[in-house]
Amino acid sequence: MSLDREIKSKLYFIETWGCQMNEEDSEKLSGMLKTQGYTPTENRDEASIVIFNTCCVRENAENKVFGNLGMLKKQKEKNPDLIIALCGCMMQQKGMADEILKRFPYVDIIFGTHNSYKFPEYLHRVQTDGVQIKEIFDKEAEIVEGVPIDRKSSVKAFVTIMYGCNNFCTYCVVPFVRGRERSRKPEDIIKEIKELVAQGYKEVTLLGQNVNSYGKGLEEEISFADLLRRINEIDGLERIRFMTSHPKDLNIEVIHAIRDCDKLCEQIHLPVQSGSDAILKVMNRHYTKEYYLDLAKKIREEIPDVTFTTDIIVGFPGETEEDFLETIDLVKKVQYDSAFTFIYSRRNHTPADRMENQIPDDIKHDRFNRLVEVVNEGIVASNKAAEGKVYEVLVEGTSKNDETKLTGRTRNGKLVNFDGCKEMIGKLVNVKIVEAKSFSLVGEIIK
Ligand code: 5AD
Ligand code: SF4
Repeated sequence: MSLDREIKSKLYFIETWGCQMNEEDSEKLSGMLKTQGYTPTENRDEASIVIFNTCCVRENAENKVFGNLGMLKKQKEKNPDLIIALCGCMMQQKGMADEILKRFPYVDIIFGTHNSYKFPEYLHRVQTDGVQIKEIFDKEAEIVEGVPIDRKSSVKAFVTIMYGCNNFCTYCVVPFVRGRERSRKPEDIIKEIKELVAQGYKEVTLLGQNVNSYGKGLEEEISFADLLRRINEIDGLERIRFMTSHPKDLNIEVIHAIRDCDKLCEQIHLPVQSGSDAILKVMNRHYTKEYYLDLAKKIREEIPDVTFTTDIIVGFPGETEEDFLETIDLVKKVQYDSAFTFIYSRRNHTPADRMENQIPDDIKHDRFNRLVEVVNEGIVASNKAAEGKVYEVLVEGTSKNDETKLTGRTRNGKLVNFDGCKEMIGKLVNVKIVEAKSFSLVGEIIK
């Protein structure tokens, strides 16, 4: 094989859909491939391994995967050695892998969320035996430690602290595809973060579907607040963030930990989903609008600079105009710094899919557009209020087109762009906000 062909046969391309959990799984797949001598490429056409890490939380995420798989057919015909691998949440859905193999028989490897650590073995088997592999574990396996991770940023890193979810919100497939809650041992988490700090990382975001129930089932008795306080002790680490918090489980100990620990950032992702008590009840969320507003108020009293981000669904079965207006009212009261807004999407096997009072698409879209408008008004107002203030910013990188333009975030998560040099990447600088744009801030470094 010529050197050029050999290099090309070592190129891989990963496309990731969905949440930070999937992003982190892809970083692990990339880490495993790099340790085997493979090189990432941004150009799917020149890759010899194409991996799609899929999401099934909403229907449009699934449709994107089908569309992209269709497009790979020609590439496979041109290069029969191309290896196509599929993984992630979509594969964990009953019958999905078989449907895919029927529609797209040229897929080589299918694996699920619980066995992605076995990817190198599957790849080896396909390369040596030319077989097609479909292996999906139904149940969550033991947590596998020590998988190499190829992280995108050199300043901030995602660190998973727990897997799975026990909440069974009636619209959501996550508990079915990611399994029950399992927490990593605190010593494994701390070891990983210390290694990251030794490599120069300054910020970690602790990940889990419901981080506030961290620790259940571990031999050692430890709560999420305890874990936060322990991580806060790590020398050299500058910032700690975490997501996602379920409002019903975010307790006063965690609020106090954020207040007391210098590295814990004043930003909380607190998905509300709806502002209507009736809808929250059928969603199985276990809180009311009043409880949520009280919680936000309590947090603001303890942590004055705190910002909130959230997830909101419109068009859940049975949502009336009055229910929707309750959501709008809540959004106005909380004033989020950012919100992921979703149109309700019917998911197989979930209780909400079986509900009869589904909302027509045109009403869903109309509510979605009205909600986005109100969310954006809040973001613009919050950014405007930052003008003239000085914030500590962690420099994350330079702008793609101009190395003298830096970008970073304040402790409470606001995105700031400012002039500086690339030697500042990874450093904390004080930045005065000179202009609020709609979704970002323009600042100047204060000497
Ligand atoms: N339809 C729309 N949005 C959904 N989410 C989860 N399931 C659905 C669904 N079936 C949203 C929730 C959750 C976020 C990750 O995705 O808001 O917090
Ligand atoms: Fe899904 Fe609810 Fe679990 Fe979040 S808490 S992952 S929305 S079931």
